[in-house]
Amino acid sequence: MRYFRSMQHFTNHSLSTYNTFGLPAKAQNLWLVANEDDLLALHAKGIFAQKHLILGGGSNILLTRDFDGHVVVLQNSGKRIIGQDENEVEVQFAAGERWHTCVMWALQHNFGGIENLALIPGTAGAAPMQNIGAYGVEVKDSFKQLRAFHKASGEFRTFSHSQCAFGYRESVFKNELKDAYIIWEVNFALSTQNHKLHLAYGAINTVLQQKGITAPNIQQVAEAVIEIRQSKLPDPAKIGNSGSFFKNPVVDADFAEKLKREHTDMPMYAAEDGKVKLAAGWLIEQCGWKGKVVGATGAHKQQALVLVNYGGATGSEIWQLAINIQQSVKEKFGVQLQPEVNVY
Ligand code: EPU
Repeated sequence: MRYFRSMQHFTNHSLSTYNTFGLPAKAQNLWLVANEDDLLALHAKGIFAQKHLILGGGSNILLTRDFDGHVVVLQNSGKRIIGQDENEVEVQFAAGERWHTCVMWALQHNFGGIENLALIPGTAGAAPMQNIGAYGVEVKDSFKQLRAFHKASGEFRTFSHSQCAFGYRESVFKNELKDAYIIWEVNFALSTQNHKLHLAYGAINTVLQQKGITAPNIQQVAEAVIEIRQSKLPDPAKIGNSGSFFKNPVVDADFAEKLKREHTDMPMYAAEDGKVKLAAGWLIEQCGWKGKVVGATGAHKQQALVLVNYGGATGSEIWQLAINIQQSVKEKFGVQLQPEVNVY
């Protein structure tokens, strides 16, 4: 006989510890899912046919109001080696694992490929959802495949790299298959030797040089990334935030040229299909928002792209700040900023 541990279920429960903005919205129902049986039980109860919201680490969400449905928090755990050859290892992370602990686990085993993604908040399951990226590396660069739960049928399906349709902070799970699947386990192909380092992102080289490191290993690259992030990005455990609130806008080359003529110092990066990526943080700073405090909210003093809850803010106050920022960037530059976080 199988033993079924009963799933944790709460009603009218605060979500403040389940979102990194620390917002006090309540869930009418809160379910903590630890294993596949829990998922199947929720499916059997018809929860996925009702109003519901799936949460991982809650690090990419702005809750503007109480949620009058079912909030399902993924808490499955496990990090394991699936297979290994001379140069490469396939590893699997359960969706509920904290992403940073997966990066640290890989580094302890001397597995390379995700070291530039150290300290990104959130869970392993959320990582492919929005193809998280930092310092010249994205999840898609070492992603192998994932296993996801189809909410309508209650069946699992494996998605290959190409089936995930990754883009800049994008995947099929944010587009064609939005809300259809729950990412449950994610596999990566990591290097076991001759690691390919990604040091082109300026700040990494600067930090390594300051430390006198000329031939860094993957652990030292991660340490540099951690140092950079800690110096620029607020720790959600201390100041509520959700990382970059907006995506960096991607514009046509003609429009970018016009902007460059008017603002010669505007940072620009080549993007796909001849387009140009702008730095949302720069645009926001130019509009005077950097470090500005509005009630208990604000744009962070070291990274204007990160909106923060200094304590006691509501989600709708942060959303109002976001709208005001969008308006001023639109007025000054003619550019529409799109949120990177999911707004509810
Ligand atoms: N900048 C400003 N003012 C600011 C912030 C940035 O002028 O307040 C300028 C910087 O000087 C630089 C440019 O904007 O010239 C880009 O800034 P930065 O290198 O800090 O990176 P970002 O484009 O603002 C992106 C990711 C971050 C990631 C960093 C590092 C997005 C939306 N954000 O930020 O990801 O850590 O690059 O790779 O793509 C996240 O997604 O939550 C996140 C933190």
